[in-house]
Amino acid sequence: MTNNPTTKPLQIGSATAIPASAIASARGLVKTYGRGDTTVQALAAIDVDFTRGELTAIMGPSGSGKSTLLHCMAGLDTITSGTVTIDGEDVGRMNQRQLTKLRRTRLGFIFQAFNLVPTLTAAENITLPLDIARRPVDRAHFDTIVAAVGLESRLHHRPSELSGGQQQRVACARALVAKPAVIFADEPTGNLDSKASTELLGFLRRSVDDLGQSVVMVTHDPRTATYAHRVLFLADGRLVGELVNPTQASVLEALASLDAAPTADEGKTDNDTSAMPLPVRI
Ligand SMILES: Nc1ncnc2c1ncn2[C@@H]1O[C@H](COP(=O)(O)OP(=O)(O)O)[C@@H](O)[C@H]1O
Ligand SMILES: [Mg+2]
Repeated sequence: MTNNPTTKPLQIGSATAIPASAIASARGLVKTYGRGDTTVQALAAIDVDFTRGELTAIMGPSGSGKSTLLHCMAGLDTITSGTVTIDGEDVGRMNQRQLTKLRRTRLGFIFQAFNLVPTLTAAENITLPLDIARRPVDRAHFDTIVAAVGLESRLHHRPSELSGGQQQRVACARALVAKPAVIFADEPTGNLDSKASTELLGFLRRSVDDLGQSVVMVTHDPRTATYAHRVLFLADGRLVGELVNPTQASVLEALASLDAAPTADEGKTDNDTSAMPLPVRI
């Protein structure tokens, strides 16, 4: 059924041309796990553009493919078919060495489980990507970021001597220090209390507004999503809608309509209104 809003892939602009405004894009991105009877299609032909200088949130039910999309975009997982482009470069054409270089120099990552090196100080953790890539640390930029995340007095502490919020701020500073083209964050506030979450999200948004950073963030929390310029909704490995300038109410409404929507194999009639289309900007 072609007019079922839950199965129609979201198209932003042309499905083939990548607009200049995009920092990261996918075209026909498919990801399947396993073989034969155990095959899982985690992503079903996704076309998407993440806008330069924006904070984009990805939401959707558990298992809808959010982490898979993030990992495939970030070159952390192989793609089954389609293309992924980061800042004009076709990631699929890269060999392992080029991919590693891309990850170290052009991408930043923030994970739910901070992923800091326990034996290194906060300062050493922050500069680790640059040190590994043997690139010089821009001290002025380092100082700007450290001040912005409020870590000046914690630079010589090891992760075990820092609170969860402080550890995630170190991870955030680490993601930003190499001035990456784009930062990918998977549930970055998942392990933080509400005060630490608010601080981190405020900082992530300021890194976009003040430093021109581009950020793509997976979250299942409507309040977290309100920090984004735009929210994309995934269901069953497909993009099913988007909200620009989200509010908590509009995010909750969109999620509720996703829950009410049938899955692809549930067989719907054309006049069934339980699956209202989400607000989609074409
Ligand atoms: N390594 C894997 N092997 C097999 N199936 C996987 C793997 N990773 C994810 N999946 C499956 O792909 C689908 C999407 O998973 P995921 O991207 O983790 O969803 P989300 O982050 O939205 O919760 C799920 O059905 C999940 O079980
Ligand atoms: Mg996930």
